[in-house]
Amino acid sequence: MLTGKKILVGVTGSIAAYKSAYLVRELIRLGADVRCILTPAAREFITPLTLSTLSKNPVAVDFVKPEKEGKAGEWENHVKLGMWADLFIIAPLSANTLSKLVTGNCDNLLMAVYLSAKCPVWIAPAMDLDMYNHFSTKENLDKLKSKGIKILDAKDGELASGLEGKGRMEEPYEIAKEIDAFFNPQSKLKGKKILITGGPTYEAIDPVRFIGNHSSGKTGVLLADACAARGAEVFLITGPTREKVKNPYVRVLHVQSADEMMSAVEHNWFDFDAGIFSAAVADYRPENKAPEKIKKSDDRITLNLIKNPDILKWAGLNKKAHQRVIGFALETENEIENAQKKLEQKRADLIVLNSLKDEGAGFGHDTNKVTFVQANNKIRNFELSQKSVLMSQLLDELEQMLS
Ligand code: CTP
Repeated sequence: MLTGKKILVGVTGSIAAYKSAYLVRELIRLGADVRCILTPAAREFITPLTLSTLSKNPVAVDFVKPEKEGKAGEWENHVKLGMWADLFIIAPLSANTLSKLVTGNCDNLLMAVYLSAKCPVWIAPAMDLDMYNHFSTKENLDKLKSKGIKILDAKDGELASGLEGKGRMEEPYEIAKEIDAFFNPQSKLKGKKILITGGPTYEAIDPVRFIGNHSSGKTGVLLADACAARGAEVFLITGPTREKVKNPYVRVLHVQSADEMMSAVEHNWFDFDAGIFSAAVADYRPENKAPEKIKKSDDRITLNLIKNPDILKWAGLNKKAHQRVIGFALETENEIENAQKKLEQKRADLIVLNSLKDEGAGFGHDTNKVTFVQANNKIRNFELSQKSVLMSQLLDELEQMLS
């Protein structure tokens, strides 16, 4: 909770300015005292009235306050605002304001407050793909980082221009979460040991070919980073992936096949408090791996496949009383019933059910629609949300399960 914390939210001219309304609402929900400053350009995207209603405080825009009840010529005390805040978050941060933060070009109230602020300053950039990728932007961000400003990196996804890529402002829920964690570092996951499986598995046919699947490994990596951000000791066992873990405290083991993943889990499982099994493990593998590359000779060849070990099931059946197990299920029919069967058969404590039926959910989307399925018919449906938000909700649930 953020009770008693004073958070100053700076909003600049970006289409993502609408998200600042959600951020303010979330900070208020966490108990913070919130005030907002808008740049003149931000007013084109969101009104002071929206933010003053949500923050329950007047919004600062100009150096001089508007004439009110016959009183004129009152100035907005930027020094006072800068001193008032325990944390100043600029979200969204435009490329224009970013460059001013570097040079100190003080041509609006937000900049004057920034230059007077004594508290930590955080920024959540939002730009279009090529602007975010531009060397000037990168250099500016690096400069601010070296001065101790915390950057909440922009995320991948669909951008206002229609382009796809990095540039979306971090989700308000995530920003509020990070602010909460900053002021309350004692997350219930602190010191807990979490094992995570992720990615696909590759099952060799011969030295150059394999059976695999389209899993990118992103979920495992994001989960690992998110658990580590909450102070957990994380071990990620992942199949082949291009995704990179950001948090230096995550231990990563790269494996190829289901058998390799299984033995890594078997060797380590009892050292952990919980396991999150997000890997897309191939259910079958070729019975024999050809020692040499199979030559193209016959018109038809037959591959004999045998069942792979079920890693989640092994962990569930062998778990000790203190250990908790989370699995995933992707179902296309009788979803809840099938997820409940998996929960029972694999002795999991929670199954995250993904349905392919909802628009905007499943593969290739940044959003997802999931249901948490637990014992005793406990079922929680979530609205279509950003995957990162759903992940936070899953970790909130894990905290409960471990406490
Ligand atoms: N899983 C696993 N090892 C396997 C297969 C699946 O650990 N060999 C885990 C996955 O990581 C996931 C859960 O089991 O958390 C469910 O995976 P899913 O593919 O939905 O189910 P399956 O058990 O493979 O059953 P089916 O494909 O018949 O639905």
